[in-house]
Amino acid sequence: MSTRRPIAQLPDLLISQIAAGEVIERPASVLKELVENAVDAGSQIIEVRLEAGGIRRIAVIDDGGGIEASELSLALTRHATSKISSLTELESVFSMGFRGEALASIASVAQLTLTSRTREATHAWSYESGMAEPIAAAGALGTTVDVKYLFDQVPARRKFLRAEATEFGHCIDAIERIALAFPEVGFRVFHNDRAVRQWLPASALQRISDVLGDEFNEHGIEVNAQGGLISLLGVVTRPTASRARADRQFLYVNGRHVKDRTVSHAIRSAYADVLHGDRQPAFVLFLQIDPAAVDVNVHPAKHEVRFRDSGAVYRFVSHTVTQALSGTAGTGGYIAPATHQTAGAAFNPASAANYSGNAQPSGSNTSAPYSWQSVAQQPLHLRENNAPSYLGAQAPALTPAQWQPLYQPLNEEPATWPLGRALAQVHGIYILSQTSKGLALIDMHAAHERVVYEQLKHALEEHTLPQQTLLVPVVFRVTEKELALAQEHHEQLLGLGFEMAAAGPQSMTLRAVPAMLARGDLEALARGVLRDLDQVGASRLLTEQRNTLLATMACHGAVRANRQLTIEEMNGLLRQMEQTERADQCNHGRPTWVHWNVSDLDKLFLRGQ
Ligand SMILES: Nc1ncnc2c1ncn2[C@@H]1O[C@H](COP(=O)(O)OP(=O)(O)OP(=O)(O)O)[C@@H](O)[C@H]1O
Ligand SMILES: [Mg+2]
Repeated sequence: MSTRRPIAQLPDLLISQIAAGEVIERPASVLKELVENAVDAGSQIIEVRLEAGGIRRIAVIDDGGGIEASELSLALTRHATSKISSLTELESVFSMGFRGEALASIASVAQLTLTSRTREATHAWSYESGMAEPIAAAGALGTTVDVKYLFDQVPARRKFLRAEATEFGHCIDAIERIALAFPEVGFRVFHNDRAVRQWLPASALQRISDVLGDEFNEHGIEVNAQGGLISLLGVVTRPTASRARADRQFLYVNGRHVKDRTVSHAIRSAYADVLHGDRQPAFVLFLQIDPAAVDVNVHPAKHEVRFRDSGAVYRFVSHTVTQALSGTAGTGGYIAPATHQTAGAAFNPASAANYSGNAQPSGSNTSAPYSWQSVAQQPLHLRENNAPSYLGAQAPALTPAQWQPLYQPLNEEPATWPLGRALAQVHGIYILSQTSKGLALIDMHAAHERVVYEQLKHALEEHTLPQQTLLVPVVFRVTEKELALAQEHHEQLLGLGFEMAAAGPQSMTLRAVPAMLARGDLEALARGVLRDLDQVGASRLLTEQRNTLLATMACHGAVRANRQLTIEEMNGLLRQMEQTERADQCNHGRPTWVHWNVSDLDKLFLRGQ
């Protein structure tokens, strides 16, 4: 039996360690905090040095305003900040930081050295927690924060860290997210003294393609809408460039990367009519809103915000993105995302010119909050580029030679076919067919996906999944994280018919794939499978996890919307569906076809009434 212990005030270090639990989860979280501080300090170039995935060392070197020697120890103290001083300022905060906790938290779970030199100082000063006074040091104008041995003193946390390569991947994700929002700042990233990323100061659009690749150039539609107190700027991609995963969705509210259901749903709703339900759009969107209309202080790591009028935000975003996708809107120049403003600066909703010179004059409609004024919609051609697109607008080929072709000769009596005889393809999405009793409409992709899924599952269970060695192996660029995943899950991948190996620090060779998928977009397929493995994260695949992977594979192997099918191919698909178990539901439980009897049709036309 435990005896009651007296209530006692916790020691400062422990308070900080507990607070660190909320914000510092892994090296990438440290990196995010340090880089945000560097951005807040008005830096033009930010250098990041990582060692061992950031576990051994994370150093962020900036050329910003610096910290006075007399304030260095204060910077490491909890609840000490230069960014706000009152609740009113919190409600209109423009800086990334405001809690005054990040450095103290980091210092409580790692060894942190702060070296800084302001414009007025003749040399830099350096400070570590525990020191009585800062000591004179060498250093240029700006600040260097050097963090070593993360979680060495906190074994409970340390053991949650993953392989160095994986942690490094998270660090890259974190720096990319910030770099997208601050295109005017240059970034250099080194890992184990090797330069791994470099982004020069650029326009917002250029930064997006520098960071995320050409996908956004080739398939991007510019979004640029101004409302009275709100604006939405950025790029959404055409439905043809959709993905299996929601991994290229970057949403920023007042320059801060956040996850937000309201805005996500609004974007989703705009794509609803043009995108198959389980495909994910890619986008980079910057929502600017009067800071008084949004609460940024709802999540310790600031990953979430709360809108005062989320209904209005929803309508504005949904309408804007719908307009952009429909191509009916007027034209306008691209407006860069918010350039960073200093703490306390007044937000001027009317001045889109804050963002770039070619903004529409919007002073006239400041009285109409949440109304929209212009939506730009134009293809993006930022750079000359003839490289083939791996996300190709072109649909992947439908069926590999080794696989059952969709085309099958029509040598049976149509009356015996439950799904009838195909008549036409409708909007590149549906197959219209006449059945013995009426009309059927079939969702082509969902139905084929279902068929391929069952075929894959069956083949795997019977150990008859044919693998095809590629005559010309596919070499493609991957992130360090994807590479690490492929190595970590080598066995499971082999089991699924994939043979892939590192071709370099950031490239991978795909040598063999399941034969039935060999004609699709192999790179997208391989990435999709790696992403799934990351998410299920298992060393041995259980049936359910395996089926998740098969579903992804089937999705890549299935015929895409807008692929023109011949009548024979359509009929072939209908016959395969008839032979497939539960073919009337897609892998996500939605129907794959609907049917109307002639009597249903008659009712529509009030015949015989
Ligand atoms: N790179 C830097 N350049 C200049 N000043 C800095 C830098 N990093 C930190 N500071 C100063 O140290 C203070 C404390 O930083 P810290 O990150 O702990 O808190 P914060 O940024 O104010 O708030 P938050 O906890 O939300 O990040 C900052 O308010 C800022 O004055
Ligand atoms: Mg901070």
